Amino acid sequence: MKIEEAKKKIEKLKGEIRHHDRKYYIDAVPEIPDSEYDKLLKELEVLEKEFPELLAPDSPSQRVGGEPLKEFKTVTHKIPMLSLDNCYSATELIAFDERIVKNLKENKAEYIVEPKIDGVAVNLFYDDGFLRSASTRGDGVRGDDITANIKTIRSIPLTIAFTGKLEVRGEVYLPREEFLRMNQEKEESGEAEFANPRNAAAGSLKLLDSREVARRPLSILLHTLGSVEQNIWKTHEAALFELEKLGLKTVQPIKLCKNILEVINYVNSWEHKRDTLSYEIDGMVVKVNFYEQHRILGSTNKSPRYALAYKFKARQALTALKKITLQVGRTGIITPVAELEPVFLSGSTISRCTLHNEDEIKRKDIREGDTVVIEKGGEVIPKVVNIVASRRTGKEKEFKMPATCPVCSSNIVRLNAEVAWRCQNVACSAQIEGKIDHFTGRTAMNLEGFGPAIIKQLIEKKLVKDYADLYSLKQEELAGLERMGEKSAVNLVKAVEGSKKNSLGKLLFALGISDVGEHTAEILASKFDNVDLVAEAGLENLQGIKGVGPRVAESVVNFFKQKGNISALNKLKKAGVNTEKTGEEKFLALGEGRFKGKTFVFTGELETMVREEAEVWVKKLGASVSSSVSKKTDYVVAGPGAGSKLEKAKFLGVKILTEKEFKENIK
Ligand code: IVH
Repeated sequence: MKIEEAKKKIEKLKGEIRHHDRKYYIDAVPEIPDSEYDKLLKELEVLEKEFPELLAPDSPSQRVGGEPLKEFKTVTHKIPMLSLDNCYSATELIAFDERIVKNLKENKAEYIVEPKIDGVAVNLFYDDGFLRSASTRGDGVRGDDITANIKTIRSIPLTIAFTGKLEVRGEVYLPREEFLRMNQEKEESGEAEFANPRNAAAGSLKLLDSREVARRPLSILLHTLGSVEQNIWKTHEAALFELEKLGLKTVQPIKLCKNILEVINYVNSWEHKRDTLSYEIDGMVVKVNFYEQHRILGSTNKSPRYALAYKFKARQALTALKKITLQVGRTGIITPVAELEPVFLSGSTISRCTLHNEDEIKRKDIREGDTVVIEKGGEVIPKVVNIVASRRTGKEKEFKMPATCPVCSSNIVRLNAEVAWRCQNVACSAQIEGKIDHFTGRTAMNLEGFGPAIIKQLIEKKLVKDYADLYSLKQEELAGLERMGEKSAVNLVKAVEGSKKNSLGKLLFALGISDVGEHTAEILASKFDNVDLVAEAGLENLQGIKGVGPRVAESVVNFFKQKGNISALNKLKKAGVNTEKTGEEKFLALGEGRFKGKTFVFTGELETMVREEAEVWVKKLGASVSSSVSKKTDYVVAGPGAGSKLEKAKFLGVKILTEKEFKENIK
């Protein structure tokens, strides 16, 4: 076949595939069987393989990308992704309408009402019709660049007929049925199940391997415009309509309400109809229809004044509380847990839930054998709301905190200001297990493969007494554990070895110092050059750090006073675990916003790091990265092989840095 002919054929196939994508994923009326669709895709792939020069990034064959990412890049949203104010009653809706009307100096306003999808907020950016990037909401200002993952979602077109820049926002969700199916598969293979569809969607979007994401049947519903070059649409209703025409899947159903009473009737009618939708919703969103009025009303720094979420009442269920058991955490805190007769409640089966502490049980008079009302609010974690006194038979058993630890039988104490009981035996196996489990966690030392079952065996077999002992485990010892193959043992040893290079922040978090979470650990790592300096810092010094309160300072000091912790730390050092600030941490310690508005250009080779990594560093500090040098460039980082860009920088007098200067003493 000649190239011209191939080109025509490829264009035709692409058009057909896009047409069927739309029919299948957006209009939900497929025209052809899946097998025929697969044939078209295969045909396209074969042609593109034969004529690689005709392979365009927007081709439907390119939805699933290449190698997994190391981490997501951070992106700053052009317009912050705000959140919505919530309300729970008609009275609040009326008050909302009164505020709107008053601020607009009108006598009434019209609204669009649409479902509030319980999914994951994302931002899509189309530039001249091409899907250029996609990101998560993150903290509202900055999110993760999840372009590769988003491209795998077939209801998101890779191209649209739109000239200029267009940002649209919506929710990625997992249809309820798919969620149930995925969990069933997980149950069969003995894996941990997802708590609810939203968690499943969020977890999927966070996967670094887009090939994995492609296997998750995610979908999207768009509900908001982000930044658009021109104000082309006058109303929200028109915008949704036009977006849909462009092939973008928008939130459905929507209703135009001429006044707030219509809104109230409509949202009420949905309270009982929510299960008729194929996805979870947790309320309805009420939005002023006219965009001009949005501009007049404006936003607070948290949420727009022109929209309000009406949240449905939390879902409740009745079930039997069979037993109250106790869980011992890594810091020795003993938490009572309700073991429930399993019930299905908004998307997941609940068989246990925390009762928090002894006082809570007393306050609610919760007894073993009670019938209880459990509730799942917006949060994922279910709770016991109250007991049903009328269902009592007299056989219920009052709960009494035991005098000893349920795991190691040593005496337990309740310290003055605390609500929690604690086991104070540092050698308690539950605590050791908890500490090691925390140490190995993904956000701590990331020792992949060391699950609770393995940790338990290691402790029982006396192969480890603390987390530092993980570094002296031998492959043969690991291979001797139950349900462990040679290959898994090799991988565990590899994971242990690899973790030696982790950053100081990760190590400080992994140590398990009370009150030191991931973020606090990072703050400490930015202020101290190594773990010993943290250990020696002293209360006053620590308290002087922004973001470190007196409670944290005290916990840190106490932690390093304990012999067991020092001996574990020494073992870690001896094993070669990094206890110093890494290059990246040094760089980031220059301070957030340090390079705000500055532009970097990288040219030539970097010898000790990859280009993407360096770009992430500078972006984290507020800079942007450009591929060409101009008068506006602030820094050029030049390595071996740098050519014309370096020459141009010299000519323009732009500051030039070697890789070493960049990493160590950028001024
Ligand atoms: S409008 C300025 N419409 O709910 C925020 N949001 O709690 C504009 N959400 O972050 C959001 N369904 O991710 C809007 N139909 C809908 C929505 C919706 C779900 C999410 C959204 C937002 C969160 C606020």
